[in-house]
Amino acid sequence: MKKNKLSYSQNYCELTREQLVDIMESTLSKRRFKHVMRVEKTALALAERFEADKEKVSIAAIAHDYAKENPDEEMRDLIISENLDLDMLQYGSNIWHGPLGAVLMKNEYNLDDEDILEAIKYHTIGSPRMSLVAQVIYVADFIEPNRSFKGVDDARELAETDLTSAVAYISRHTITNLIKRKTKIYPKAIETYNAWAVKNKEDQDDPFVN
Ligand SMILES: [Fe+2]
Ligand SMILES: [Fe+2]
Repeated sequence: MKKNKLSYSQNYCELTREQLVDIMESTLSKRRFKHVMRVEKTALALAERFEADKEKVSIAAIAHDYAKENPDEEMRDLIISENLDLDMLQYGSNIWHGPLGAVLMKNEYNLDDEDILEAIKYHTIGSPRMSLVAQVIYVADFIEPNRSFKGVDDARELAETDLTSAVAYISRHTITNLIKRKTKIYPKAIETYNAWAVKNKEDQDDPFVN
């Protein structure tokens, strides 16, 4: 893999970039590891475009799926022992790995920066309030070059100029897809949609008229 020139100050995490990459390479499947590295590249391009902190973005991108391949049972136990939102247990394990990845990175590698932890935590479901770093990771995870689902090009186009609109588009796309698949929706994902994707009240047509 091409060497990335970014070197970390180690103010946010005790690891160098090389160490962080090595941890992910040995923890994750090859397929997932490649995804993570594409997310980093995409996220760094967004960081350049929207003036986000590149070191924070790089750490969050490389670590965002750290817990993704952990066994469900282990994740379930951690949600309980770490006092995370127990409501999550009623929803699919796909929504667990973000919050757990943040907890594990904090516990195991002293990752101690709110922007980075929040970006890892919210990368799947988003949040009504997201830092610039969290927005960058949320968008980069969705648009990395190997993504090919319907709508991804619209998100890529928005991300060329308007990060907020890209976040809004992705939150709407996520909710719409879950509804299409008749999947139960974790309420925090709906909160993200309400905060980012609903038009301003004055622009809205009243759905109850006509
Ligand atoms: Fe993920
Ligand atoms: Fe991911």
